[in-house]
Amino acid sequence: MSEMAAQIAKAIFVGNIKGGVGKSTLTVYLTEYLRHRFKRQSVVLIDTDPQGTSFELMEPKSKNGDVRFLPVGDRYDGVNMSTLDGVLRRLLAQNENIAVVDTGAGKLGSFWQLAFLCNTLLVPTSMSWADLRPTIDFIKEIDERKSDLRSVTPHVVVVPNRVSPHQRNFQPITDALKEVNAILAPPISELSAARNSSPNFSGLDGVGGTRFHREIERLGEFLVEYVISGELDRIYAETAN
Ligand SMILES: Nc1ncnc2c1ncn2[C@@H]1O[C@H](COP(=O)(O)OP(=O)(O)OP(=O)(O)O)[C@@H](O)[C@H]1O
Ligand SMILES: [Mg+2]
Repeated sequence: MSEMAAQIAKAIFVGNIKGGVGKSTLTVYLTEYLRHRFKRQSVVLIDTDPQGTSFELMEPKSKNGDVRFLPVGDRYDGVNMSTLDGVLRRLLAQNENIAVVDTGAGKLGSFWQLAFLCNTLLVPTSMSWADLRPTIDFIKEIDERKSDLRSVTPHVVVVPNRVSPHQRNFQPITDALKEVNAILAPPISELSAARNSSPNFSGLDGVGGTRFHREIERLGEFLVEYVISGELDRIYAETAN
């Protein structure tokens, strides 16, 4: 039996109350990376942001059904939330499926309901305090909800994004994360070519050979090792016992 055969489905929710931190950017590049990595598994991108950024970028590059636009907001709630809930549950009922869920800034509508359907919450942030402070408060709120619900998921994985290529010192973010229950992922640096521009978005091919490309691969492998493989589930199951 292959290593992959036992893998249960995983949903990765990309969210942060802070806008413009790279949620949609990481969503599209990671979806592409995981599709290359797991050729036989379905990697579905679900864009819940009414702006539709990641849907627009990935739609031309996706097979039918592999990218969904299900905007959740005040205006759309209800209809789309129950569709979304159903889509996610169906995806997760089938072994080996992977879903990556992009969200808008803030906590619109049924944000928490959605987040708690997912195994992992990927939280991009820059290293600036203007982004780090609200990010930490956001994770504190997740921690409170997890403890209320006695749930170990979603696991929170913080990704430093738009890091200067010369950045060496990650102490400020390491210190900030001591206040919350979160894991620090390897960083992604600033790359002007990574800026999303539909309709000619060329994805990973468009950033080939760059440091950014290698970092997306490294982050993707980090997610494979800890999230997709179920390693975080095992670690937290042990600490809960
Ligand atoms: N690593 C990076 N290098 C260069 N530009 C980046 C990087 N990450 C994000 N950007 C750019 O920063 C801007 C905001 O990124 P993005 O749209 O991914 O953020 P977001 O969190 O999805 O925003 P929103 O809250 O509006 O949905 C975009 O123009 C994007 O191209
Ligand atoms: Mg976005």
